Amino acid sequence: MTDYTPTREDKFSFGLWTVGWEGVDVFGSAVRAPLAPADAVHKLAELGAYGVTFHDNDVFPFDATAAQRSDHVAAFRKALDETGLTVPMATTNLFGHPIFKDGGFTANHRDVRRFAIRKVAENIDLAVELGAKVYVCWGGREGAESGGAKDVRVALDRMKEAYDILGQYVLDQGYDLRFAVEPKPNEPRGDILLPTIGHALAFINELEHPEMVGLNPEVGHEEMAGVNFAHGIAQALWHGKLFHVDLNGQHGPRFDQDLRFGAGNLRGAFWAVDTLENGGYDGPRHFDFKPPRTEDMEGVWESARGCMRNYLILREKSRAFRADPQVQAALADSRLDELARPTLAEGETLASLREEKWDDARIEALAERGMGFERLDQLAMDHLLGVAE
Ligand code: GCO
Ligand code: MN
Ligand code: MN
Repeated sequence: MTDYTPTREDKFSFGLWTVGWEGVDVFGSAVRAPLAPADAVHKLAELGAYGVTFHDNDVFPFDATAAQRSDHVAAFRKALDETGLTVPMATTNLFGHPIFKDGGFTANHRDVRRFAIRKVAENIDLAVELGAKVYVCWGGREGAESGGAKDVRVALDRMKEAYDILGQYVLDQGYDLRFAVEPKPNEPRGDILLPTIGHALAFINELEHPEMVGLNPEVGHEEMAGVNFAHGIAQALWHGKLFHVDLNGQHGPRFDQDLRFGAGNLRGAFWAVDTLENGGYDGPRHFDFKPPRTEDMEGVWESARGCMRNYLILREKSRAFRADPQVQAALADSRLDELARPTLAEGETLASLREEKWDDARIEALAERGMGFERLDQLAMDHLLGVAE
């Protein structure tokens, strides 16, 4: 049992835009004052985070002059130096300014696309300077509200073109940087391109340098699409494509809630942690949440603390679940060990499989056998609820 105090070894990171969210939404104005990036860095370091991530315009305004930009970057960098916080990931704001109302990489206007690619390239330079290893691309504005407005096949050509140009740029510069696509089904666009993990995985295979591009799945975004986040990241891991992860909370298919991690679908969060911890993921545990508008700054930090605390609690529960002899017996009873065995034995062929004798009794015995999943799941539930014996 720990006291759930995070350490830097836990690799918790936060976007500047999360704790810095002023609460502007479609129905209301800001409820909190702007938070200087340097102040966010100091407070996150104090709370136990190891990293901070940023969009270009979280650090300096869209219309900053070169001199203003470098002052803002210097203040941010100073805070990083003072605290020892790292920048594991960075990303571009291709959604806030009106120029991006129809997207960045896939805007119908060619000039907008040219401007977007240039904006990303500039911020890639800064990201690498600050030590980032992953560059996230969230295409929030890449999409449409109506059928005729976007030729999806052609828009995907343009999306591929952007990734290919930027991938080549990273190679030419000799940067040690990989891209991570962040899928989302909708919001702010009615329908967003690359809406789920599966769509994004298929897209990556069409790129010039697929090895440089992976995923940054977000809990809430997959749940908005009604699919299972733990299954999604398990498949991303299977493809070697889980480059980064956005952890938060969501109550099923509705607007993007961006709740603190562990809020919303708690059972889903348990399986997400279990998958990250046991599936070979070694990257940052990055929180992308929005502290609710009801909170003052004390509430914002409470919410950030809660993300890390919930992760640590769930990690402890996942470990206890996996170590429990009753669970191990239940897993065997549910034939998880058999699932791990190839269906054909060494040297066997389809022909030899077909030679095997089957009779009705054998078929019936298999058909009648229960799988024991309810017992297994109740053990997980007991662990999650803290009543496992
Ligand atoms: C969302 C998204 C964004 C992106 C971020 C990176 O909640 O819709 O998660 O927060 O992750 O802007 O570009
Ligand atoms: Mn989100
Ligand atoms: Mn996100």
